[in-house]
Amino acid sequence: MLFFLLPKTMHTSFVGKRIIVGVTGSIAAFKVAGWVSTLAQEEAEVDVVMTESAKRFVTSLTFSSLSGRRVLTNMFSAEEEGTISHIGLSREADCIIVAPATAQTIARLTYGFADDLLTTTILAADIPVLICPAMNVKMYEHPATQKNIEIVKTLGYKVIEPECGNMACGDYGKGRLPDWHQVSEYLLKELSDGDLKGQNVLVTAGPTRERYDPARFISNRSSGKMGFAIARAAFRRGAEVTLVTGPTSLDWPAGVRVIPVVSAQQMYDAVMSEFSNSSVIIKAAAVSDFKSAEHHLEKIKKDDATLTIKLVPNPDILQALGARCDPKKQLLVGFAAESSDLEKQGRKKLEKKNLALIAVNNIASAQSGFEVDSNQLVLIDHNGVTELPHTSKIKAADMLWDYIVKNKLLKT
Ligand code: CTP
Repeated sequence: MLFFLLPKTMHTSFVGKRIIVGVTGSIAAFKVAGWVSTLAQEEAEVDVVMTESAKRFVTSLTFSSLSGRRVLTNMFSAEEEGTISHIGLSREADCIIVAPATAQTIARLTYGFADDLLTTTILAADIPVLICPAMNVKMYEHPATQKNIEIVKTLGYKVIEPECGNMACGDYGKGRLPDWHQVSEYLLKELSDGDLKGQNVLVTAGPTRERYDPARFISNRSSGKMGFAIARAAFRRGAEVTLVTGPTSLDWPAGVRVIPVVSAQQMYDAVMSEFSNSSVIIKAAAVSDFKSAEHHLEKIKKDDATLTIKLVPNPDILQALGARCDPKKQLLVGFAAESSDLEKQGRKKLEKKNLALIAVNNIASAQSGFEVDSNQLVLIDHNGVTELPHTSKIKAADMLWDYIVKNKLLKT
């Protein structure tokens, strides 16, 4: 058995990255203080650049306390000058994120203004620039703002759409700064080396539910965490990702097209209509093998002391894919939930379902498999067996992609 070493810095992490956070004058600036704190805790080096109006909402002391670094505000400050210039600032950074970006800042970027440190830094940058508009709904929807947003996109800046919701001014609508768990995915994508660019990835996740009366269903312990992590990691690494998921309590991953399903038959139908457009298919879902032979329209009463439900098999989606996929153009990866004989059982499924690779997880361990946030995968393909270390599900997902890329399993 081969062992896979955990790289010190993962493909998709903030460790050691230099990020410029441009803060402009919107009430949402207070949210960005939390982002800076998180980035610093995740070992990124964060240089905050504030506009004059941003300082009316949050002090520079807030940001410097959270980032542990100086905050830059003034292009001509004697104190700041000499240590760092607007050219040097972006030259040494990996990425710029402007959040919150006001209508005013977006307009200035549209026309290439260079009248303060932030706009000058952006104009001098040849690194990715992300813009997170945040403003009143009417300002956001105004044709002038919409036109400017279209123009900044053509300049190569990535614009993250604001969310809908209640606004500080009392209005309701689109214009709220999205939450960090969404924005961080886009930022990680810009920071990754994009080794899955050009791949169309289809992932399945979660359990399926097989209803047998209006109140009850048969299901399993799957939380969907592993499949969601695989989809998130693929998006961060540049793939176009579709996630077919059974019912879970997880937030849908940013940037990923999600197709929610409930039963195994629905998952089968969704996967069958999607797979031909995919270059990689990873079936991490825990599909219910059986469903009730009958669906009772009325709730079953407990009048009888015992209840017998006749179960009939569900279609095996992965096996159907194994028969239909083109192994020259598509990489088909299965998962196996096993409680013993991991290698033997995994290899059996690899052959039976005609897979290129299978990831086996030990569901008998409290540290891996269902519900928990960590996993230990054993990868089996036609070359051998590789045991990944016990790690978080998002790192395990990244390591699965590392394995696929390093072993040249991708078809396009
Ligand atoms: N799978 C599937 N459709 C099913 C059952 C399983 O697509 N009806 C897929 C799972 O998504 C997983 C792989 O097959 O990728 C293995 O699933 P697992 O539950 O480990 O094994 P089964 O094939 O169901 O066999 P058994 O329950 O006997 O171990």
